[in-house]
Amino acid sequence: MKKEFISNSYKETYSLAMRLGSLINEPTVIAFKGGLGSGKTSFTTGLAVGLDYFGEANSPTFAIVNEYLGGRLPIYHFDMYRIADEDELCSIGYYDYLDEAAVLAIEWSENIEAALPKDTVFVIFSNQNENSRTITIECSEEKDFLKEL
Ligand SMILES: Nc1ncnc2c1ncn2[C@@H]1O[C@H](COP(=O)(O)OP(=O)(O)O)[C@@H](O)[C@H]1O
Ligand SMILES: [Mg+2]
Repeated sequence: MKKEFISNSYKETYSLAMRLGSLINEPTVIAFKGGLGSGKTSFTTGLAVGLDYFGEANSPTFAIVNEYLGGRLPIYHFDMYRIADEDELCSIGYYDYLDEAAVLAIEWSENIEAALPKDTVFVIFSNQNENSRTITIECSEEKDFLKEL
């Protein structure tokens, strides 16, 4: 199933993500696609709030993975920009995180496409102009949160 949303500001992206987060109540992999500045980190900030995490989400560019704990599910926020191969993916512990009952939010998921699970939720950003984004959310039919979004 696939739904398309238009966001005209950071706040709208944040709100959409927060609503999505509030509808998630089982382990979920969320894979972002979209270039620099498209809103992936902004989206993750809202997502974390929707999952009742009351800290701040930050770009994991230097750490590769940020952990947000204390909400309804742990959130692991990845930046795969510099991940080039399977060995690197293993060494950052990706598969261990995947085994956990958690939400994984993955920036630059294009780089690890083959390692994403079958029931991954894709969030695809395309910039319309400086402040406007088309956000397409795509997932399998079994995930019913998209129907409510
Ligand atoms: N509709 C929008 N949705 C999300 N961010 C937006 C939007 N319009 C403008 N922005 C700005 O674009 C930037 C997005 O940054 P960020 O979320 O870090 O992107 P990414 O993680 O994809 O590189 C922020 O500075 C934000 O304020
Ligand atoms: Mg980012």
